[in-house]
Amino acid sequence: RCLPPRHYSTTNNPIQTVGVIGAGQMGNGIALVAAMNAKKNVVLVDSNQKSLDNAMKFIDKLLVKYVSKQTLTQDDKETTLSRFKTTTKLDDLAASDFVIEAATENTALKQTIFKNVSDITKQGTILATNTSSISITLLGSIVKEPQNVIGMHFMNPVPVMKLVEVIRGLATSNETYERTIDLAGQMNKTCTLSKDSPGFIANRILMPYINEAIQTLHEGIATKEDIDTTMKLGTNVPMGPLTLADFIGLDTCLAIMKVLYNEFADSKYRPSPLLVKMVEAGWLGKKSGRGFYQYE
Ligand code: CAA
Repeated sequence: RCLPPRHYSTTNNPIQTVGVIGAGQMGNGIALVAAMNAKKNVVLVDSNQKSLDNAMKFIDKLLVKYVSKQTLTQDDKETTLSRFKTTTKLDDLAASDFVIEAATENTALKQTIFKNVSDITKQGTILATNTSSISITLLGSIVKEPQNVIGMHFMNPVPVMKLVEVIRGLATSNETYERTIDLAGQMNKTCTLSKDSPGFIANRILMPYINEAIQTLHEGIATKEDIDTTMKLGTNVPMGPLTLADFIGLDTCLAIMKVLYNEFADSKYRPSPLLVKMVEAGWLGKKSGRGFYQYE
């Protein structure tokens, strides 16, 4: 759990409404833990109404499962659902005390979102981003209150994974940091703190590991099955690195490797040519039906 020192008062300034931008896999999970665990009102925003409808179906299905497993009561399920508002309009974030952006990993898109949200939200609203590699300091530079901008990097699948990496930009205030780890604690997550450096902690370590597994396959050292089995049984991880790459999305893996390669200007982060080719082919992993393995 995350236990912040108290340099601010939660009673004078409680977080009541959490805005979540992006109803993809990450946004849905974040919205769920905000409503169910932290008991916040949640405004889930996406420009696509269909994504919002799918998000609520996904959330409802998970809640049904929790009730059937008796980890949630039927009453708590209904209360959790009643905390949600879905909308296609960013303007509906006006009443949020804390906004978590979980849009596609694209710097220009995130910059536009941050600029717009900063104009809509009230003074003091914390603007967090779930980016896995984009500079928090850069996103902070384009809003009205850079001291309120912070990185809050959840792991996929959010309802299952216990970690949130918290990243302070150059301008992030102590109060923003403390309120963020307080909220993450209420979501039942454990926090780690990273400097605003490419890949932060998780992807700085995980992506070169995955990239090396792909390169091992590319060089014909072993089959994909043997690479995955070696790491799964040999290092006791739930998935081998190639299965994990398919699960994360090969386009995401490549995008993060490119950030590491470009920002550190170090050849040890060079994306494997096989990873590049697979993304060119549109073999993006589980979401596209084909990656290192075939899906349905
Ligand atoms: N949402 C909610 N719950 C989910 C879920 C989802 N999307 N996916 C799986 N679960 C739940 C299942 O419902 C199941 O719950 P119960 O035990 O209550 O039935 C539980 O997780 C286990 O699932 P399964 O039995 O289907 O399969 P599994 O045992 O193989 O677990 C897994 C699935 C949790 C994904 C596990 O394989 C795992 O932990 N894999 C590694 C995940 C990982 O490394 N994530 C980090 C990726 S990196 C990242 O996110 C950062 C980045 O920037 C790229």
